[in-house]
Amino acid sequence: MPTHTVLVTGGAGYIGSHACVELLNAGFKVIVVDNLSNSKSESLSRVQQLTGKTLSFYEADIRDKTALTQIFANEKPTTVIHFAGLKAVGESCAQPHLYYHNNVFGTLVLTEVMQEHNVKQLVFSSSATVYGVTELTQYHEELPLGAINPYGRSKAMVEDILRDLAEADIKNKCEYPWKIALLRYFNPIGAHESGLIGEDPNGIPNNLMPYVAQVAIGKLPQLSVFGDDYPTPDGTGIRDYIHVIDLVRGHIKAIDAFNTEKFSDGNCKAYNLGAGRGYSVLEIVNAFENVTGKKINYKISPRREGDLAEYFANPELALKELNWKVEKTLHDMVADTWNWQSKNPQGYK
Ligand code: NAD
Ligand code: UFG
Repeated sequence: MPTHTVLVTGGAGYIGSHACVELLNAGFKVIVVDNLSNSKSESLSRVQQLTGKTLSFYEADIRDKTALTQIFANEKPTTVIHFAGLKAVGESCAQPHLYYHNNVFGTLVLTEVMQEHNVKQLVFSSSATVYGVTELTQYHEELPLGAINPYGRSKAMVEDILRDLAEADIKNKCEYPWKIALLRYFNPIGAHESGLIGEDPNGIPNNLMPYVAQVAIGKLPQLSVFGDDYPTPDGTGIRDYIHVIDLVRGHIKAIDAFNTEKFSDGNCKAYNLGAGRGYSVLEIVNAFENVTGKKINYKISPRREGDLAEYFANPELALKELNWKVEKTLHDMVADTWNWQSKNPQGYK
């Protein structure tokens, strides 16, 4: 089998670095393009250390067409996994222009360069936030979209753009049509079991799991549990947490699927990547205490604006068409988070 070269945008980041490990272990050649706006190149040194394999790294911005064109000409990738993007919901409300420029314009430049080099296999990091507010708690791919903040809308806009690209090729019976997987992540947590790579948020974490881990290590004094009056069994919010390794394996399954009938005439398809079950905030806190033996100091605080009570994935389509499902347990997610946090109390610094 010829070696496939996968270009990974945002490969130095949390999910991207774990994807690089899985890609290298699966025998792919890996090229990373990252501007290090939310990551450190140390993550890539660790990826190479733990796989014993090398990758190529270009410190570049995906909006820089000249740089991207040169990279495509040098490396001749066959497939792109596109993680590069900004992801903080609150920041996106404060600086929408930044988010649309980075996430939407960045993807336009990337896909333009891909098209010019006839590289038309793309796996895109989408998000469960593209779904509209609904009475249902379990989301399936056919639900109407309706993101409620600029970050979510930037993902939904990119999905629309990518669907249009694929559709144009299908209509034109293009010889090498776009094959695009839109992977809608639920809540990625955890770390590689080695503890060498993991999530290293800048400043105070926005998300539950890194916050809990930093309380456990003593970097933060107390967790605020945002609301205990939701209509859920213990009153706290429920989410579908997914181990980052399960998540990145879904990307390799998507690349495999590009060779199947589903994508043979070109296609752009959305898949939920989630476990199909949720845990509450207090269940996460309890699991963390049980696994680590550390007491998590928390207080009940008011609800956080924009949060929903409960949602989780219907992951059946990914099982049926990508032959993918989660393998890891809540214990794995917590133990691997703690292994990373305790071995790297200051992250990659
Ligand atoms: P991350 O911030 O750790 O990784 C993103 C990487 O992209 C960073 O290394 C950053 O430096 C890089 N980057 C950003 N803009 C860039 C640009 N213009 N050019 C080059 N590089 C750029 O985030 P992550 O958690 O690994 O998320 C990866 C992707 O998955 C993002 O697109 C995010 O929106 C999406 N996603 C994440 C979550 C989550 O909870 N982590 C959930 C759903 C979707
Ligand atoms: N929570 C707390 N205290 C905290 C942080 C979070 O109680 O300090 C609660 C939230 O209220 C929510 C749950 O923990 O009930 C999970 O919150 P996160 O911030 O970890 O995750 P979200 O579900 O809000 O959003 C995340 C990402 C989004 C992504 C989405 C996909 O932040 O970017 O998952 O479903 F799109």
